[in-house]
Amino acid sequence: MTEIDSPAQIVFAMPRIGDPAPEFTADTTQGPINFPADYKGKWAIFFSHPADFTPVCTSEFITFAWMQQQFRDYNTELVGLSVDGLYSHIAWLRTIKEKITFNGMSGVEVTFPLIEDVTMEVAQKYGMIMPGEASTKAVRAVFVIDPAGVIRTIIYYPLSTGRNFDELLRLIKALQTADAFGVATPADWRPGDPVIVPPAESCGVAADRMAGAEEGLECEDWFFCTKQISETDVENAIRAK
Ligand code: BEZ
Repeated sequence: MTEIDSPAQIVFAMPRIGDPAPEFTADTTQGPINFPADYKGKWAIFFSHPADFTPVCTSEFITFAWMQQQFRDYNTELVGLSVDGLYSHIAWLRTIKEKITFNGMSGVEVTFPLIEDVTMEVAQKYGMIMPGEASTKAVRAVFVIDPAGVIRTIIYYPLSTGRNFDELLRLIKALQTADAFGVATPADWRPGDPVIVPPAESCGVAADRMAGAEEGLECEDWFFCTKQISETDVENAIRAK
């Protein structure tokens, strides 16, 4: 995190992929949090939402809470934030559990921490406030942070659009597969689909690949080679033990 002095205020540089996740302590609906230290050794999805007691956010929280175990199956914990206060958070989560049904999901208890950030200090540090969209609310930001506390993905959605949680789970699997096998994953990849092998780094390797010398590789061209990793092998490598 970098501070840039300005006469009026301290402006935080936006965190970037590959940066250490900015550190903070805060109060949450599950007690105090020390982030990212409390999540060392786990993946974390740290996300913001604009406001409690709003419909799109409510649909997102129900979906996230419903899927919490699916994320845990991949050693991934969820942490939410909005600039509302703790009592508002508590009241909203109680209402969600007691009254709201979304897509057939009802009685959903949100047990992951929801951070109160009335000063917007954390939201500012993470670049979650985008004044062109709203200066008093966070946008729908998603930060994926790896077990070493490094930011691995950043996604932003506007206020009007709820996130796709299947995509977030797919993303976690893709990041973990890339780390486990030293590969990349192509468009719309899912476990069991072919993965991309690192590019040829010399003319010799490029020629070998095109001559079919590397067993198990399928090459469209010298720079675009894939190999098969079975869904079982992927799951064995990335699923939490
Ligand atoms: C919503 O979650 O429904 C919402 C929040 C802020 C602005 C617009 C919609």
